[in-house]
Amino acid sequence: MIKEEEIWKILEKIRDPELGVSIVKMGMIKKVELKNRKVLVECELTTPACPLKKEIEESIREELRKIDGIDDVEIKTTAKVLPSRRVLPEDILPNVKNIIAIGSGKGGVGKTTVSCNLAIALAQNGAKVGLLDGDIYGPSVPKMLAIKEPVRTDGKKLIPPEVHGIKVISIGFFITEDTPLIWRGPIISGALRQLFTDVDWGELDYLIVDLPPGTGDIPLTLAQTLPNAHGVIVTTPQPAAYSIAMKALMMFRKLNLNVIGVIENMSYFICPHCKGRVDIFGSGGGKELADKLGVSFLGGIPLDTEIRIGSDEGIPIVVSNPSSEAAKAYHEIAKRLAGKLSIISYKLLKT
Ligand SMILES: Nc1ncnc2c1ncn2[C@@H]1O[C@H](COP(=O)(O)OP(=O)(O)OP(=O)(O)O)[C@@H](O)[C@H]1O
Ligand SMILES: [Mg+2]
Repeated sequence: MIKEEEIWKILEKIRDPELGVSIVKMGMIKKVELKNRKVLVECELTTPACPLKKEIEESIREELRKIDGIDDVEIKTTAKVLPSRRVLPEDILPNVKNIIAIGSGKGGVGKTTVSCNLAIALAQNGAKVGLLDGDIYGPSVPKMLAIKEPVRTDGKKLIPPEVHGIKVISIGFFITEDTPLIWRGPIISGALRQLFTDVDWGELDYLIVDLPPGTGDIPLTLAQTLPNAHGVIVTTPQPAAYSIAMKALMMFRKLNLNVIGVIENMSYFICPHCKGRVDIFGSGGGKELADKLGVSFLGGIPLDTEIRIGSDEGIPIVVSNPSSEAAKAYHEIAKRLAGKLSIISYKLLKT
């Protein structure tokens, strides 16, 4: 009769597909229980949005099924997100494990739409997520998520409203739509800092920060405020995409923010009538661009009228139509991003 120790030995040979390290050595296997020819394995992943979840589960099942004397394999998968940033003593967000700033070298490429859908997609996988609207002059997150109620406070901190499973804060909650902001530099910096420090974020696995357009003073100030954050660049497939994305890359690098990768928005067109896919700009451009920049390609999102409608009506497509191709694309990107952050976290843990 097989023993539990032998099962541990078999599991030790299974490696995380991306890191090549044994899943037992990584501490992923929390429990092995053998009862009447049935084995129960408890597996803890480094993110609930793990892109390799199925692959890892399948490998465990396949290896254990080979054993004589085992008829059934049950896998219970949980997740505990690791921090991809070093929390320093003076850290303004000590309870936030991962901070991801979404930027681009140009306005109107879809940063806010990507930020909202990506944040919700991560939360739909079971992660604790916050979204900070870093656009002080033109905050568009409140409208994109149809948040109208006033922000409450507990007397000490602001309580961020929660929609579609994410906590959200925006300067737009404190000004009316037709009040132009005419604040100057130091006040802007102070206001931005308050969005981080005066908000009760609680514990967060991921904080997504939607940066304002371009590489001007505000995005720079904002990125400077982010302690040990990572950056993601949003581009569109146009001839000038390279130089635009390069500007964003330079901005992040100037601030010592590690750039995880590129998301290509409006990559291809989804016909609203037949729902067919048209590669207007050819295919593979996003990947080529990421290679040229020397960063990862996180994926492409279609140009889809339903995405625009979702933004206008305040219900992002990952909520309004989760089975759409666009929603699936956001989910794939969320998983790829979470996977990349997990690798960084694991390496950080080992240093
Ligand atoms: N993939 C898409 N398909 C269709 N419409 C999209 C897509 N992505 C964004 N949009 C639309 O494009 C417009 C601009 O998007 P968004 O506001 O997200 O861009 P942005 O980069 O944040 O802009 P800004 O630089 O002004 O902050 C919005 O109307 C949005 O609904
Ligand atoms: Mg925006």
